[in-house]
Parts: sequence; structure tokens; C-alpha cells
Amino acid sequence: GTVILAYSGGLDTSCILVWLKEQGYDVIAFLVRFRVWETDLPLNPVFIEDLRSEFVEDFIWPSVQANAVYEDRYLLGTAIARPCIARSQVEIARREGAQFVSHGATGKGNDQIRFELTCYALYPEVEIIAPWRIPDFYNRFRGRTDLMEYAQKHGIPVPVTPKAPWSMDANLMHISYESGILENPKSHAPADLYLMTKNPEDSPNTPDVLEIEFGNGVPLKVTNVKEGKSKNSPLDIFSYLNEIGGKHGVGRIDIVENRFIGMKSRGIYETPGGTILLQAHLDIETFTMDKEVRRIKQGLGIKFSELVYNGFWYSPECDFVRHCINKSQENVQGKVQLSVFKGQVYILGRESPKSLYNEELVSMDVQGNYDPCDASGFIRINAVRLREHHRLQGVSSIK
Ligand code: ARG
Ligand code: SIN
Repeated sequence: GTVILAYSGGLDTSCILVWLKEQGYDVIAFLVRFRVWETDLPLNPVFIEDLRSEFVEDFIWPSVQANAVYEDRYLLGTAIARPCIARSQVEIARREGAQFVSHGATGKGNDQIRFELTCYALYPEVEIIAPWRIPDFYNRFRGRTDLMEYAQKHGIPVPVTPKAPWSMDANLMHISYESGILENPKSHAPADLYLMTKNPEDSPNTPDVLEIEFGNGVPLKVTNVKEGKSKNSPLDIFSYLNEIGGKHGVGRIDIVENRFIGMKSRGIYETPGGTILLQAHLDIETFTMDKEVRRIKQGLGIKFSELVYNGFWYSPECDFVRHCINKSQENVQGKVQLSVFKGQVYILGRESPKSLYNEELVSMDVQGNYDPCDASGFIRINAVRLREHHRLQGVSSIK
């Protein structure tokens, strides 16, 4: 049978490619281009797909609408890339009449789940080959040296650059770093680990001031206010925010998180553009969205983040949640001005035709359509419960 292998160009998937051929499969390598990179590969057959625009529009934008964050800190850069890659992979599998797909994710992680749930959801008849879960494979390749030897024996070009002592996943949204010397949660990341962001200690001493215009909860345009230059297409907007965020050291985190599979893992992430967008979106959303709708939507955003982290991008429940979130974004439009400086995003101001902010209503100087006497009753009604509680607990409850 034919296998479409999600190929990264690294040592693992290079060896998997040859190993699959040894097992008698016809292998087609499938390589995703998330960044503008490198030279052509000595592979045949191979499909190289530039998924950057669809990654931004179909995966990053819905995450921006949701304010998607896992366990309060992780912006899900790897989690949203997996359904994007796997969607494209099964498309090719169908087109080529391939029954099998394969990947190089380990048997301990989240990525295997995300890959495979997407494949099953979009191509139910597919058969998945996960070599790192096949005893014949993992007993044969017990470490990096085994892989290197196998590569040398089979003429697989071995990466010339010495391997960093940690594992990386890089795409347009972020880079993640885990395992290797990072496995000790106490040990600090070396300063030269970060590839997308500058150390805020070395970042420029003058901020960049940006204006981000939103419509339906996604950015339509970003303008550098001082330089007067703008970006309009989703890919250009996101790439530019990465550039500015990276320059000022925005979006670095070091966390211990809970994998779906039940273990805790230590991860370091840099998400420069995503972090700017999260702050800007939170601001324009609160400005334009009804208070109670916002509360419900916030809960849906947490639900969305968990579903996506766990690999359920393509599921009825995630579809439903995304639909609701999208509905909540109807009036999320307007402009946010912010400054990016020394690892931080500082909101400076906002404006919107859909603003629910009523300057007259909130003003200390104008009465507006509001009677202060009503507040007395409002407060006393809210106090009914508190007074009853005190009556039962007695004075002793006061500390
Ligand atoms: N822990 C993060 C996540 O589950 C990052 C995973 C990194 N994946 C990788 N193949 N290096 O989303
Ligand atoms: C892997 O196990 O392949 C990477 C880490 C993860 O998927 O969580």
C-alpha cells in the first residue's frame, strides 16, 4: 500500500521513511512549509505544501477570536498546527488513493492524538502507522545513535548542524522547546535557546506603536503608527506582528503543563505575534461586547482551548463551540492602539463604531440617563443575603 508520511526533514522522519520502504510500503513524503526556508530535498516522491495562509486564516484567526489559551498561559501554537497539517495530509492521501498515513510523533505526547484524531475525523477509512508505537521500530531504534547509524548505512543525509539538546516544534505561530536538558523543571533555559524573540534585556530602547484594526474579531489591518506603514493580508499582518513582537521580546513563557495523556511536561514557548493579538483582541472585545455575553463566551474560550489541546479540532463539540464564538464576534470591530516594548504589550487607546462604552453614562461630571438614588435600593437588595449570613454566623465570624 501507499503511505503519506508527514516528513519534517529531521533525522527521525528520515529514518521512518526508509524503514517504511523496508516494510514494503510505497512512501510519499509530505512536507509542510510553515516558514520560508531551505533548499530542495533529495526526495522523490514528495509533496511540499505551503500552508502558511490557511494556517493563519483557518486556525490562528479562530484562536484569536476565542482568546485561546491553555492552562492560563500556553497559546496553543503546536496544538492548532496539527489539525492543519493532518487536514492537508489526508487530502493528499485521498487524491493519491493512499490507504495509509504515518507520522513521527512519540507515543507519550499530545501530537500523536491530534494527528490521528484529525485523520480519522476527515478520512474515516484511513489506517495510521505510528512507528514510535510499534515495538519492531522502537526496539530497533533505542536512541539517537541507532538512528544515526541507520541513516549512514542507508545514505540518509544526516543533519550537519549539531542537534540542540532539546526538541523543538517551529511554525509560523510559535516555537516550542521541550525534553532533553529542559526536562528538569528547575533548570533554567539557556539564553541562546530562543530563536523567534530577542531577550527583552537587549531589545530596543524605543517602543513600536501599532494600530490594529479588527472586524468580526480578527485583525484586518495593522499600521505602524510612527513609520506609517500598513499590512492588510492575514499572512502579512501575522508575520509583521511576529517581527515586531520578536524584536521587542514579547511572548516568552516557561511552564509545566498537563498533557492529555496524564503526565506533566515542562515546555518553553515563544509566541510573539500571537501574544500581541491576544492583548489587542481582549481589549476591543471587552469594549464592544455585552457583559453577560462576554462571561459565557469566556467559558466557551476555555472549552475551545481544552478541546484543541486535546486534539478535538474536528469534532461536533468543537464545531459547535466555534460557531458560538464566531457569533459572539459580530460586533467585535474597531481599532486598538498599543505600544510594544521590553517584552510587554501596553494598550494605549481604542475606538469603535460598535463601542458599548457610554462616556456620558460613566462620567463623574455628567448625570447621564441614570438616577443615583436607584443605587441605594440596588445595594440594599444585594445586602439581603449578606445580612442574613451575618445573623446566622454572628459577630464571631468577623476576622
Ligand atoms: N507541549 C506542547 C503541546 O502539546 C508542545 C508539543 C511540541 N511538539 C513537538 N513535536 N515538539 O502542544
Ligand atoms: C511528541 O511526543 O512527539 C512531542 C510532544 C507531544 O506531542 O506532546
